[in-house]
Amino acid sequence: MGGMDHYRWLFTRGDEGLILLTRGEGIYVWDESGRRYIDGSGGPICVGIGYGVREVLEAVQRQMMRIPFAHSSHFTAESVLECAEKLVSMAPKGLTRVFFTSGGSEATEAAAKMARQYHLERGEPSRYKVIARWQSYHGNTLGALSMSGNIARRRRYEPMLIDFPHIPPAYCYRCWFGKTPKECGLECAWALEWAIKASGPEYVAAFIAEPVVGATLGTVPAPEGYFKVIREICDRYGILFIADEVMTGFGRTGKNFGIEHWDVRPDIIATAKGISSGYMPLGAVIASEEVYSTFKEPFAHGHTYGSHPVACAAGAAVIDYIKRHRLVERSAELGKELLSKLERLKEHPTVGDVRGLGLFAGIEFVKDKESKEPLPPEARFSRRVMERCLHNGLIVYPGWGGVDGIRGDHIQVAPPLIVTGDQIMEIVDLLDKSLWEAERSL
Ligand SMILES: Cc1ncc(COP(=O)(O)O)c(C=O)c1O
Repeated sequence: MGGMDHYRWLFTRGDEGLILLTRGEGIYVWDESGRRYIDGSGGPICVGIGYGVREVLEAVQRQMMRIPFAHSSHFTAESVLECAEKLVSMAPKGLTRVFFTSGGSEATEAAAKMARQYHLERGEPSRYKVIARWQSYHGNTLGALSMSGNIARRRRYEPMLIDFPHIPPAYCYRCWFGKTPKECGLECAWALEWAIKASGPEYVAAFIAEPVVGATLGTVPAPEGYFKVIREICDRYGILFIADEVMTGFGRTGKNFGIEHWDVRPDIIATAKGISSGYMPLGAVIASEEVYSTFKEPFAHGHTYGSHPVACAAGAAVIDYIKRHRLVERSAELGKELLSKLERLKEHPTVGDVRGLGLFAGIEFVKDKESKEPLPPEARFSRRVMERCLHNGLIVYPGWGGVDGIRGDHIQVAPPLIVTGDQIMEIVDLLDKSLWEAERSL
């Protein structure tokens, strides 16, 4: 759990202190000693429909028995076609073409390559740059990391990365332009135009952004109107807009896809996580008909496990479950309850900001609420909070570096969309208790 510094090497039994999980049901998981945890973040915002859903298990089992693998170069399977259709039925109108991957980094990277080939096909071979934002996260493979704006995650690999431009984030709590919401002229969106001009528009292929910045800022929705400006600029300069919906897809924010809150249609969506709710590794790129129809040559990209029939069977069953149980609407309704209950935590001396959209919330911690001075990085405060939460039987997703790549602490709270009002109460109570403990330990 807990982002980069917590990923382990290959480990052997008995090493490292990882918690060995043995079972999951609903919003709960159990470890080998029988201890129960509420999964208050779906791991890294991955589990949308909760654990132990029989329909998914059965769909996976059926597909395993029928045909577990069909190489996408020449073959397909019914579950792949079915999952693609269901995906399109959830996507914004006009996004009709699906390319399946095994996860989020593969999806954002495929989206970038798709944008590059789109321009090649249109006879604009100089276009290759993908403009992204600081404090964003688009994945860890080298292409995806080149787009990511998380300084801590990039630092060690900087010499290996592609030199893509980055613009300031849309981060109202710490506006990079020193504006208050009242004074806001969406400078952070107009910064894209400057970056395009500075890069040379003829070199720019795409702009990529998370509608609500997840792991690296702690659930920060862009301000109203932001993506309308982005869309306008992309259209003016012939640049594709890629929405990274790896965390924000499949009802997490209270809409099918997060970008719908801004009433804007991207050219390409990259998604993963909630699509299969963690039951199988699955991601997808969904492209517009216009992008697709530009391709005269096949998309020159693919992986052995792309369009995996079993993963797609899980995805199709998860989408069915989301629709049947109206989980998108549920996320919108219960999300309000989650946010208002989390607001209560502002009585804590370290809680600087509470924000979110749907069942996708974030809390930013500070040393001083007035000046918004962050806690010292050595205190590892968000990890302390996570550790206290784990001790008290709650899983949250910690992150850091939101202020300048190094300083800044936050956690994300994003329970499975099946969570009940009572369970939300329990999550907030456990968080409250864990926060006091973490604060006392400072
Ligand atoms: C917005 C976003 N994009 C891309 C990724 C990378 O996805 P994956 O870890 O499945 O490769 C993540 C993962 O957290 C993410 O949050």
